[in-house]
Amino acid sequence: GASILASMTFFSSAVVAQTIGFSQIGSESGWRAAETTLTRQEAEKRGIDLKFADAQQKQENQIRAIRSFIAQGVDAILLAPVVATGWDAVLKEAQESDIPVVLLDRQVDSSDDLYLTAVGSDLHHEGVVAGEWLVGEVGDKECNVVELQGTTGSSPAIKRKAGFEEGIAGHDNIKIVRSQTGDFTRAKGKEVMESFLKAENGGKNICALYAHNDDMAVGAIQAIKEAGLKPGSDILVVSIDAVPDIFQAMAAGEANATVELTPNMAGPAFDALAAFMDGGTVPPKFIQTESKLYTQKDDPMKVYEEKKGLGY
Ligand code: AHR
Repeated sequence: GASILASMTFFSSAVVAQTIGFSQIGSESGWRAAETTLTRQEAEKRGIDLKFADAQQKQENQIRAIRSFIAQGVDAILLAPVVATGWDAVLKEAQESDIPVVLLDRQVDSSDDLYLTAVGSDLHHEGVVAGEWLVGEVGDKECNVVELQGTTGSSPAIKRKAGFEEGIAGHDNIKIVRSQTGDFTRAKGKEVMESFLKAENGGKNICALYAHNDDMAVGAIQAIKEAGLKPGSDILVVSIDAVPDIFQAMAAGEANATVELTPNMAGPAFDALAAFMDGGTVPPKFIQTESKLYTQKDDPMKVYEEKKGLGY
């Protein structure tokens, strides 16, 4: 009798609604907005009470939000870390309070025993894929590349840059001639591209743009058009995320390639947390999502329609 009662208590605890705090970076890109939407939807599906905190791109706001989640006694924390460094102290505080932390999409430099698991893509590999695509596209032709980097100090900016450099390594005809941050936003992508165009003979010296996300590419496409050049042919455009708008640009011949990043990081994160909290299953330290290359050959309008329903 007692053991039946004990197991009933055990199983019933699994269905009690959990409270999970989510420290989100902000809403710099279409991808980020979709990740927020899908996280809310996934929480609702599972009956999770999600406490959402928008950090407006500031690490100090994220640290404050995490401390407040700890003070409220949440069951777990999701953290999309804006930059890679500076997390040790607050992650230790969560650990000392026995609150598991799951990292979403971006990574940290802290020791991996300070968090339960990280859900994300291989950010370095995304850069390699973009670089290798360009190598295949230009062959032996001289090609000056301009690069729009993501948020300075963020793991995607660091790794996508290094990955791309690896992808083009050994092809001396391809050179990165300018590289600057566009903060992962459309507006800054456009503004920085305008300065690249001015500095490079109105754009005539530029063969390709590599943008660390699609939103910056979309802003830059506008700048290229305003400079009287054709994005997608006069200047090749390769970027990362696979948001719906880049497929519209591809269908119009104004963008060439994108590497997909799934915005549904929360699904695998909640699954891992449920397995850990209900059954004690310790997840691997990294739960990797897929990265897929799309080009103009992949029926961009069809992909656009499919993407529209998925959090975008
Ligand atoms: O961390 C993932 C990156 O953050 C996405 O590629 C970008 O769009 C977002 O802002």
